[in-house]
Amino acid sequence: MALRCDLIIRDATLIDGTGGPRRRADVGVKGDRITAIGDLGGLSADREVMAEGRVVSPGFIDAHTHDDQAVLCGPACMLCKTSQGVTTVVVGNCGISLAPVPMAERPPPPLDGVCAPDWWIFDSFAAYADRLRTNPSSVNTLALIGHMSLRVGAMGRDLDRPATDGEAERMRAMLAQALAEGAAGFSTGLFYPPSKHAPTDEVIAVSEALRGTGGLYVTHMRDEADHVLDSIEETVRIGRAVGVPVVISHHKCAQPENHGRSRETLPLIERHAADWPVAFDMYPYTASSTSLGARKPRPDVKVTVTTSVPHPEAAGRDLFELAAEWGVTAEEAAARLMPGGGVFHNMAEEDIRRIMAHPLSMIGSDGGPLAKHPHPRLWGTFPRVLGTYSRDLGLLDLETAVHKMTCRTAVVFGIPDRGVLREGAFADLVLFDAATVRDRATFTEPKQVADGIVETWVNGQSVYTHAAGASDTPAGRLLRREAARRAA
Ligand code: ZN
Ligand code: CU
Repeated sequence: MALRCDLIIRDATLIDGTGGPRRRADVGVKGDRITAIGDLGGLSADREVMAEGRVVSPGFIDAHTHDDQAVLCGPACMLCKTSQGVTTVVVGNCGISLAPVPMAERPPPPLDGVCAPDWWIFDSFAAYADRLRTNPSSVNTLALIGHMSLRVGAMGRDLDRPATDGEAERMRAMLAQALAEGAAGFSTGLFYPPSKHAPTDEVIAVSEALRGTGGLYVTHMRDEADHVLDSIEETVRIGRAVGVPVVISHHKCAQPENHGRSRETLPLIERHAADWPVAFDMYPYTASSTSLGARKPRPDVKVTVTTSVPHPEAAGRDLFELAAEWGVTAEEAAARLMPGGGVFHNMAEEDIRRIMAHPLSMIGSDGGPLAKHPHPRLWGTFPRVLGTYSRDLGLLDLETAVHKMTCRTAVVFGIPDRGVLREGAFADLVLFDAATVRDRATFTEPKQVADGIVETWVNGQSVYTHAAGASDTPAGRLLRREAARRAA
């Protein structure tokens, strides 16, 4: 115990990520690890931070992101995440990953909305991983490989049909190679036009690459509206067919006629979870965000434009107002704005609360870092759960809220020695004020740093302070999934 620390955070309320009760303690860090927890009155450090009772917890793991490109753009690019206390992001979701398929022409939507057209330069996962190693972010990255990206690699632009057996085999081989090079699993976006023609059998054939690797199957399901129950069945069927755990992305019951149906979806998921590893992530908002072409506009669902290539000035505008100005239908206006994205106010608060409170849920932002006028979830997800849902509404106690952002996510994704505060774990930490933590990003002003997140550390290095903003410290690493931690 005579060891001098690099950093000691003194007199903190420790929430360790396991869901166990808070306690008063000091936390000591040396290099990239937590070296001591408890009363460290006898220890000294190069830097001492007085927590004065504020909370120290594991840094948050964003279970669902589209940060594939953002993590390559330098440490400060991740201010939207580090300012929320996020220290690890899972990229490659919804079937969209920047590797392993290079694209010389503009990729088909929605791929082009997630990463800029000139960024599709990686011909292997190893090349992507290399770039991340030589050009580190401020946060850690765990990467999935997207089905839509593989489809372009195997099928070119001829995507509105099922893959042939030969094409599915090519996708399987590309996925197998990426997994061998360090990717953590496979994602699909069966809702989206380039993938909705893929039958379940095609997905199973490609997912065969996951068998025995411990990799995960993660999905933006085919239908999150009228046929959401069928989609849950399809998801679990795929996981069972190849023997791997499944994660349902951004679980929701979309469109007004499906509001309240989390009363049906959650019991169905629970029944499967009794004998199969099933998890889901969610974000704390009643609006989704996706390509403007993804859903037919309807008058009972408000739509705000987030981006438009032909009409950049439309960002932030209401789609129906714009259509009225142009003297066209909302559908025609959406078509004119494409390629572009929008926010769709299509969920019910009761479902958000029921899904968030469920023991199998994790928190994931699903934020779109490229949008001019992004959905506020990009900057606000984690503080919103802590402030609005835990503190103000009392939906979950703080220990449980933190668990869903840390330990639970680390166990589901097989991330070793993170998401928990204990001696020997990596020093991914966040210091926050439970009384004041609050998201400030709104639908009208979405790019706003949260209140109450005091400081964020990744691998022992400070990457954000509320006082000074993002540091330029490239502290993040590419993480590999550890299959041994599968049980859970
Ligand atoms: Zn999605
Ligand atoms: Cu997504």
